[in-house]
Amino acid sequence: MTERKLRVLLLFGGRSSEHSVSCVTAAGVMHAIDRERFEIVPVGITRDGGWTLLDEDPEGWALNTGKLPEISSVDHPVHLSTDAQKTSLLSYSDSAVADLGEIDVVFPLLHGPFGEDGSIQGMLEMAGVSYVGSGIAASAMGMDKHYMKVVFEGAGFNVGPYEVITNKQWLRDSEAAMKRCDNLQYPLFVKPARAGSSVGITKVDDPSELRAAIEIARAEDPKVIIEQGIVGREIECGVLEGRGSGPSRASLPGEIAVADNLHTFYDFEAKYVDGAAAELSCPANLSDEATLEIRELAVKAFDAIDAEGLSRVDFFYTPEGDWIINEINTMPGFTPSSMYPQMWAKTGIEYRELIDELIALATERNIGLR
Ligand SMILES: Nc1ncnc2c1ncn2[C@@H]1O[C@H](COP(=O)(O)OP(=O)(O)O)[C@@H](O)[C@H]1O
Ligand SMILES: [Mg+2]
Repeated sequence: MTERKLRVLLLFGGRSSEHSVSCVTAAGVMHAIDRERFEIVPVGITRDGGWTLLDEDPEGWALNTGKLPEISSVDHPVHLSTDAQKTSLLSYSDSAVADLGEIDVVFPLLHGPFGEDGSIQGMLEMAGVSYVGSGIAASAMGMDKHYMKVVFEGAGFNVGPYEVITNKQWLRDSEAAMKRCDNLQYPLFVKPARAGSSVGITKVDDPSELRAAIEIARAEDPKVIIEQGIVGREIECGVLEGRGSGPSRASLPGEIAVADNLHTFYDFEAKYVDGAAAELSCPANLSDEATLEIRELAVKAFDAIDAEGLSRVDFFYTPEGDWIINEINTMPGFTPSSMYPQMWAKTGIEYRELIDELIALATERNIGLR
């Protein structure tokens, strides 16, 4: 008797501003995943949170220049049963509910709030189903640029100077909140605390621009972080959880160099639209010693938030040779050409194998407290 294939639910799109990026990732995974071993169940989430069963053909989700893919309508409504005894995908049409079968693993290819921030992870925990990537707390910390700094500082990392303005502080007294930023040296980077893909981030060169930049960030997230600009090379490293009780593994580091005549920093356009704007190189041109340092620091950051599965850890490497941690991404860009898969390919793990490995890690570990 042949064993049935593992049923992997690919969840993508979603409610965050990184909806389209997530669709591109799903296309990449659907292309590469080993269909001999895995049966895939593609489920898209619209921008307003509707769940729909999709076609297995990934072509519609690829990135065509000038047009970002989108899941715009719910044609086949589905839900995941949150009964922890048996996790099935249920389809709804009018009043009839049909059981589309049990799901073995969920691969949340979602970025940003409601995807990478612990909320979907909480739902999957309730459903009692295995899933790829970090659990609730690590996802939440990895999403929040404030709390991740608190944890990283506690673990002994260098983090740059920053201020946080919560929604209440802003509404109570925005002048006083901005006054706190006087301690920071310009240029500043004003960011939504919980977003990604550079959405809502403004580089501010002069105090007169600060309020407008905070309003832009607040449109994404009412909690805002204001960071002092750091001079340094942008170097990042992929981390993959160890199998069994083995140690977390770090990839070779990569570097992002932004053509600064086109973009003043690594903004959304430079990331996804304007291919010529940023150069990704891996392995980064670093001394053996510096390479070793960043690989160790990346694993230390992964372990500091108790991440699982995968993460990309981003640093600034200063001219003095110091490493300042910028952020951890618990669901980094995961298209075949994204930095995380590229760094692993250079380290000896190809995209398809990386997907296998992540699914294996998810199925091997328990859910709930672990
Ligand atoms: N404190 C900083 N100093 C210098 N550049 C920064 C700073 N913070 C962010 N940047 C630039 O902005 C980009 C996006 O910021 P980041 O914090 O990584 O947000 P996201 O989660 O959207 O990727 C970085 O890749 C970098 O180019
Ligand atoms: Mg980033």
